[in-house]
Amino acid sequence: MAKTYQVAVLPGDGIGPEVVAQAQRVLELVSEKSNVKLAMQSYDFGGAAIDASGEPLPQETLKACKAADAILLGAVGGPKWGVGKVRPEQGLLAIRKELDLYANIRPALFPSDSLLEHSPLRADVARGTQFIVIRELVKGLYYGDRKEADLDTPGSKGEACDMMVYDRADVQRITRLAAHLALKSNPPAKVHSIDKANVLATSRLWRRVVQETIDSEFKDKGVEVDHQLVDSAAMIMVANPRKLNGIVLTENMFGDILSDESSVIPGALGLLPSASLSELPTGEQPAKGLYEPIHGSAPDIAGKGIANPVGTILSAALLLRWSLGLDKEATAVEQAVRKVLDSQDIGGYGLRTSDLGGNASTKQVGDKVLEILATLL
Ligand code: NAD
Ligand code: IPM
Ligand code: MN
Repeated sequence: MAKTYQVAVLPGDGIGPEVVAQAQRVLELVSEKSNVKLAMQSYDFGGAAIDASGEPLPQETLKACKAADAILLGAVGGPKWGVGKVRPEQGLLAIRKELDLYANIRPALFPSDSLLEHSPLRADVARGTQFIVIRELVKGLYYGDRKEADLDTPGSKGEACDMMVYDRADVQRITRLAAHLALKSNPPAKVHSIDKANVLATSRLWRRVVQETIDSEFKDKGVEVDHQLVDSAAMIMVANPRKLNGIVLTENMFGDILSDESSVIPGALGLLPSASLSELPTGEQPAKGLYEPIHGSAPDIAGKGIANPVGTILSAALLLRWSLGLDKEATAVEQAVRKVLDSQDIGGYGLRTSDLGGNASTKQVGDKVLEILATLL
């Protein structure tokens, strides 16, 4: 009897449902063609959930996500819900915290070398860039105490505050995960830890605990770490990104910003996948995780059928590899995506969405990925 895995699907808002639909078709094909079955069920989340029930993360959705083997997410948010008291993005922060998804893994890799010509960086600068951003996801500024400014009471100073808190264990566990991924390469990938230790107390803690953890647990296995300040790291990322090859390890807020920046190297935000995990992806034992493209709900193009589905499809590949242990199938999905991006070679130019200079629709890209994947599985 084939094992059945439960995948909770959270399409969300804007282009979320459009790109998730294509990734689901990919997972359905894998389910048909492999010896495991994927049972996918969709749930309200984000703005769509606020519209349906008044809250961005309904209890039923949270319960299903806790019970599932993996979660596939589109994106949440949009002008309809704005930045008022109840916001779609609160659902995203809540699910990360509830499931303790402390490690956000965002690879800045070229899914295909044929994209080099489309990078806003010169090809000789961008070529060979290969790093993975590992962002701590459940602490720091996103989750500390806050004080909203009172701007409406006459005489009020209108002061706001966001607390940034980390402790030793927070930094240790994300460093272990980074080192673990570094050890998947031979020789081990270099870990570049990014902080603002010349100003922030949290960064001085970060720097010291990262170094101690690598020294005491990973140095003898060949893992090396260096430390860079976030301002100059942001500059290096576009001036000479190969210098950051390996693992870029950083805290929540810096990781949010640097991972969007990293997406311009391969050419477009819509290309890049992410995984948020609550445990080490050892490969032997599937890790619980949430998988989503790094982009948002793109309200400016929602409903037009032109969103790039590649980041979401590649997120589905990570889901297969890390949460279901289906490495062969994950690699086949990645290969199919590469072939579609290289589609001049297979006679179908135009199989890129407009963010990559093509004129294909979201569905046409999905169709072509499926067609090629069917030959690889
Ligand atoms: P965004 O990532 O939604 O869009 C930025 C730009 O990139 C837009 O021009 C958009 O059209 C383009 N883009 C993004 N994804 C694309 C794709 N797949 N194909 C083609 N073009 C794509 O960022 P934003 O506009 O700053 O944010 C919009 C909303 O999304 C906000 O409410 C924000 O909070 C939310 N958001 C959600 C997530 C998430 O759910 N994980 C992530 C980021 C932003
Ligand atoms: C992301 C997004 C989220 C974040 C927002 C929507 C809360 O930008 O996943 O990168 O800042 O973490
Ligand atoms: Mn972001």
